[in-house]
Formats: sequence, C-alpha cells, structure tokens
Amino acid sequence: MKLSIAVLSGDGIGPEVTQQAKKVLNAVASKYDHTFTYKEALVGAVAIDACNDPLPKATLDICLNTDAVLFGSIGDPKYDNDPSAKVRPEQGLLKLRKSLDLFANIRPVQAYASLLDKAPLKKEIIEGTDFTIFRELTGGIYFGAKELSEDGNAASDLCQYNRLEIERIAHLAFKAAKSRKKKVTLVDKANVLESSRLWRKVVTEASKAYDDVTLDFLFVDNAAMQIILNPSQFDVILTENMFGDILSDESSVISGSIGLLASASIGSKYALFEPIHGSYPQAKGKGIANPLASILSVALLLDHFGLTEEASAVRLGVEKSLDQNICTPDINSETDTITTDKVGDFIADFILYPEENTINMENVRIGQLTII
Ligand code: IPM
Ligand code: MG
Repeated sequence: MKLSIAVLSGDGIGPEVTQQAKKVLNAVASKYDHTFTYKEALVGAVAIDACNDPLPKATLDICLNTDAVLFGSIGDPKYDNDPSAKVRPEQGLLKLRKSLDLFANIRPVQAYASLLDKAPLKKEIIEGTDFTIFRELTGGIYFGAKELSEDGNAASDLCQYNRLEIERIAHLAFKAAKSRKKKVTLVDKANVLESSRLWRKVVTEASKAYDDVTLDFLFVDNAAMQIILNPSQFDVILTENMFGDILSDESSVISGSIGLLASASIGSKYALFEPIHGSYPQAKGKGIANPLASILSVALLLDHFGLTEEASAVRLGVEKSLDQNICTPDINSETDTITTDKVGDFIADFILYPEENTINMENVRIGQLTII
C-alpha cells in the first residue's frame, strides 16, 4: 500500500517521539512491502515562532492532501502563564481538528501484564482492564462562544451540542462495542447540564439500532471515581469533548504512564493519529520521553487502513519492549540508560526480525542493535 502521511511533530518532546513512530512505520514498510512517504509541517509554538500562526495555511494544505496525519504534541510553557496571549499553540490543534472535521477521538486504555506491578494503582484493581474512550472532539465547551467582558472581570465558555454531533459519534461507539464486550457507558452530567440531557436522549435513541449492545449511564464525577476503583467494568466509554479530555488522562494511570496512551481522531474523510500526552517541555531533548504512545498511534493508523497484521506486529513489539524492560524512566525505575531512541530501535528491530527473540541487553544499552 502507498500512503502519504503528514507529519506534524509540534512542540516539546513531539519531534523525538514522532521520530520513533516514523522509524517503526519505516520498519513496517520494509517488512510488508509498503511505501510510506512523509510530508513534514509546522504546528503549535514552533509555527508561531516561525510565522506567527499555530496552524499555517501551508500545514493545513498538506493535511488536506495526504492520507493521514501523524501528530506529535503541542504546547509551550511561555504561553501557559500568560492569560493575555492572543495566539496560543493549542489553537493550532483545535483548528486542525475542526478543519478536518475529526469528530471522534478514540483512546484505547489497557493494563499491560508486564506493568501490573509497576503501575501506581494496585494490581488487583487494574488487572484485566481493556476499554476504549470515544471522546467527541469538535464540539462542546472547547468550541462554543467565548466571551470576556470589557473590564476583564467576567468570562464565559458556552457548551453547545446538536443532535447530529451526538448521533455520529454515538453510532461509532456502538459499532465498536459490537466487536468488543458489547457495552457502552455514556458519561455525562445530566443531573445538572441541559447539553448532557440531550446526549442521554440522542444516545438512547441511537442505541435502539444495536440490540446486542447494552447502554448504561454514569455521571462524570462518579465515572472519575469508578475508573480508579473498578476499571475493568468498562468496555466503551462515550462522552463529550471536555469530559473525555479529563477522563483519558486519568485513565492513563491504569496503564502505568501517560506516555502509553495513543489516540485516533477520525472524521468522515480525514484521520489523525496522536499520543494523548502533552509536550512535556521539561523532558525535551533529554532522551527520557516515552515514545510508546506515538508508536501505538502508528498501530491505530495501520488499523485504520486495514493493515491489521502490521498493526499487530507493532503492538507485539511494544509488548516485547515492556516485557524486556526496554522502557524509558517513566515506567522503568531500574535504569536510566534506555533512551527514547533505543525504545524505537528495539521495536523497529523486532518488526524486522521477530524471530530473533533474545535481545542482547548490552547491545541495546550501547546502541548496537541491527537497525536501519
Ligand atoms: C488532548 C490535549 C488537547 C485537548 C490540548 C493540547 C488542546 O489535552 O488532546 O487531550 O485538550 O484536547
Ligand atoms: Mg488532554
């Protein structure tokens, strides 16, 4: 298969983790005889620095004319504590999601066997967890009207949804549940918010087309607690934009690190793949950023194009790296010598030579794996 991929590495650790994702894509291309070509483009703070626009037109044009977007991360501390900043890196990502109409953000969460004892939560609690969050991505409070009073002392953000915006992601969530454990949990705040009551109504109606899928409801405050108390009860969590943002960071604690959670943002025409984590500026250039979320986003990209065998090979490579503790310090307290780059090398190498199962850790550490 030939795929042209827009690569928007963005800010902070974005470039270094995306580089590992590309390395893995190249290994897949070479092993399975595909041609992946890349078009790099600026987004976020680096784009503001270069042309005062977090999503330059040239970048958007590239995204509109490629098969998929591989996104790194976005954000820079110099904007975080400046409430008066007119342009912000995050606006680039939000505009991109809106422009490509990427209304469904899919964030799989699982507990990995080899991390059960390392994760911050108790093993008995997280064991067997395997759920997917379907986060609405182009509506709600993120995109509603924003106001700031003239004297600067009052502000508001409108949370607005319409039937169509809810229906289209609801159907994707139900379809996904059909091939999983057949359960959708709608997370909302219907005891307080009108928009949540619309979600309940529309999702309940949509559920009628899926006899074999159970639908249940949780208020978001309770859901935040249940995710930590009993995460294995969930299969597909369906929720609006901001609740999904918050719950997915929380859910990453189950896996063991936010550096493990990948996502696919899907619309009717375009698709973008990105780690859920931010730009982690403190780690930039230190070789300590975990590239697995970016690499697992590649697996979602491959799945999206029907390359399921290739996607499985990537996931198996990730599991092998976890099993053999070829991990960055966020999930590896024993050593600080496994860098971002080496994790990428290991997984690319595993894809190319899966039969060579015994890895010489000395070679991994000194960087002498047989890598392209
Ligand atoms: C995410 C991020 C973004 C969001 C930021 C960077 C705008 O937190 O993808 O989860 O809030 O959607
Ligand atoms: Mg987030």
